[in-house]
Amino acid sequence: MPLSRRTFLGTAAAAAALSKVARAQGQTQGPAGLPVAISSSNGLQAVGRAFEMMQKGTDPLDAAIAGVNIVEDDPEDMTVGYGGIPNQDGVVQLDASVFHGPTGRAGAVASLEGVKNPTKVAKLVMETTDHVLLVGAGARWFADVNGFARENLLTEKARKVWLYWRQNLSANDKWLEPPLDKLDPDVKHFIDLFGWDDLRKPTTGGTIHLSAVDSRGDIGGCTSTSGLFFKMPGRVGDSPIIGAGCFTDNDVGSAGSTGRGEANILVSGGHLAVEFMRQGKHPKDACVEVLRRIAKTTREKRLLEADGRPAFGITFYAVNKKGQYGAASMYDRSKTGRPAQFAIADPRGARKEDCAALFERRPS
Ligand code: GLY
Repeated sequence: MPLSRRTFLGTAAAAAALSKVARAQGQTQGPAGLPVAISSSNGLQAVGRAFEMMQKGTDPLDAAIAGVNIVEDDPEDMTVGYGGIPNQDGVVQLDASVFHGPTGRAGAVASLEGVKNPTKVAKLVMETTDHVLLVGAGARWFADVNGFARENLLTEKARKVWLYWRQNLSANDKWLEPPLDKLDPDVKHFIDLFGWDDLRKPTTGGTIHLSAVDSRGDIGGCTSTSGLFFKMPGRVGDSPIIGAGCFTDNDVGSAGSTGRGEANILVSGGHLAVEFMRQGKHPKDACVEVLRRIAKTTREKRLLEADGRPAFGITFYAVNKKGQYGAASMYDRSKTGRPAQFAIADPRGARKEDCAALFERRPS
């Protein structure tokens, strides 16, 4: 199909902006030796746990899942597991995937309700079925028959945030906006963290991805999320899509992502990052190249800033078999000014480092 002029201008502007690559350095990026665990910035404790377990000989996927379970169990992380922000109907629906390098097997669940740790269910899909992905009612049934209790995942804080969003959604419905001076402190804190403007957009959300390489060079990866805030019921992001939110090849490395899942699914970003590493790219450069692909192929005007850059955030994390690691974000910082970072644990310890970035965020 020929490109419309408007579409072409959008991509041309993005291409021009691509030459102004922002921060593509700044990481120590190992290898300091194995094991290594890398994750999104909300996973500092998670990478620490995964590293310690691998040091004691635990399988890299088991270690990755145990690390991610910390974040899934934490009600203060409102982007993953228990306490995650619900969908537009006020229901928490979780997505997760796991990939085990040594066996080359993977498992995933999507739109799963009532289980804090969807990664545990995803692992059972991998281990005990002939399938890779179970969704919705089928995933819930599978969790039931495997003995997972039906838990209420909606915390008071998440319920209050959802209710405030619902009350503010439209001037043409029967909900009345609460006065700003009576804003609940929990809601205010959430708005300060993510920005109210962003909250209205379907691009806001969070996730944890964790990739791990043990001392033998065996690899595991896992991703877990409550998805976009206030998403449509049944909306599935990249996290449970093998090859998008998570991909592992035991000969090469592992990669995954956080951020706008739709953008990732369209380029199969996790798989692409691993293929770039297979071609010899450093994990950081592999992540940058995936972002470059996303920026280049995002053509819809509604998804672009006026300057042609993507109007959404997305970050990739990757590690190779040698323990070299890196992460790259579309922008060097969020719209609320938080620097793009990732968590890493290796023999130097557990810490956060700055992501490389495709673009520098301009003052708005
Ligand atoms: N990356 C998480 C999601 O889009 O749901």
